[in-house]
Amino acid sequence: MLTFVLNAVAQTTWLPDQVSTIAHEVDSLFYFVYYWVIFFFLIVVIGTFYFSWKYKSKDKGLTSPLDHNNALEITWTVLPLLLTMVVFFWGAKTYMKMNIVPYDAMEVNVKGQKWFWTFTYKEGFTTSNDLVVPVNKPVKLIMESQDVLHSFYVPDFRVKMDVIPNRYMMLWFEATEVGEYDIFCTEYCGRSHSEMLGKVKVLSESDYEKWLVEANVVDESIPLVELGEMIYKKNACYTCHSIDGSNIIGPSFKGVWGSTMKHTDGSSAIVDENYILESILEPQKKIVEGYQGVMPSYKGILRDREIEGVIEYIKSLK
Ligand code: CUA
Repeated sequence: MLTFVLNAVAQTTWLPDQVSTIAHEVDSLFYFVYYWVIFFFLIVVIGTFYFSWKYKSKDKGLTSPLDHNNALEITWTVLPLLLTMVVFFWGAKTYMKMNIVPYDAMEVNVKGQKWFWTFTYKEGFTTSNDLVVPVNKPVKLIMESQDVLHSFYVPDFRVKMDVIPNRYMMLWFEATEVGEYDIFCTEYCGRSHSEMLGKVKVLSESDYEKWLVEANVVDESIPLVELGEMIYKKNACYTCHSIDGSNIIGPSFKGVWGSTMKHTDGSSAIVDENYILESILEPQKKIVEGYQGVMPSYKGILRDREIEGVIEYIKSLK
């Protein structure tokens, strides 16, 4: 009962919500360890002060001849051993559960790169920074990194896995509540690491079916400039390209249209439709002077109409 109350209090004050099937189990083990630690800490600290006060020697140089107590030795060896065994088997059981992906899990491919996430669905489209999944359905993420070490972390789900280049990393979860949950990158991956943020959007099954259909068609009714602005925000282009003239990791979009760009190989070119298209699909081909070529390719991520939108959006930023 006491554990239950403490658990409820602690959970709401300093742990995120529990929104996956595994979250409760992870927290229970955490609190089990946590409260035992507090218990032993208090016993040791209080015992230390109490005994040093009670048995304080009044005559200098004389201490008690007491040097051994078998019952005590056995108690403080066996009890912690039992406790660590409980923690070990409990931990192993939870670890297995977190690492064995259910057979019927839906799969999404995840790519981490400086400094955003992309999610590719079996249905054949890709989203940036928004992972949309149905509620009460196991989801398996097959993750890889395009460049450096990243880590995929969803606190509300209690799941985290490093994402590294040249091999696939797996992670699975089953969300238990409809809502939006934060994704953080938890391996330092360069200048905009802290802005490598995403969201898991958990939808009801029917909403998810609807979303799948919508996500797979390009909405022709959105004007190109607006579509471009949406893409700019959705793909977090702002982490590198400002729209107010300040230069961050890449050149600002403001006033860039029609200007002349000087490149690290000595060449130069005027920014027009083809220049932007090439910058999006093959960003490493021409690196603007004064910048490092860190931009990833958006080939296969942006569709033709979305690229047209970005071009119109850049044109509008005079
Ligand atoms: Cu990606 Cu830090």
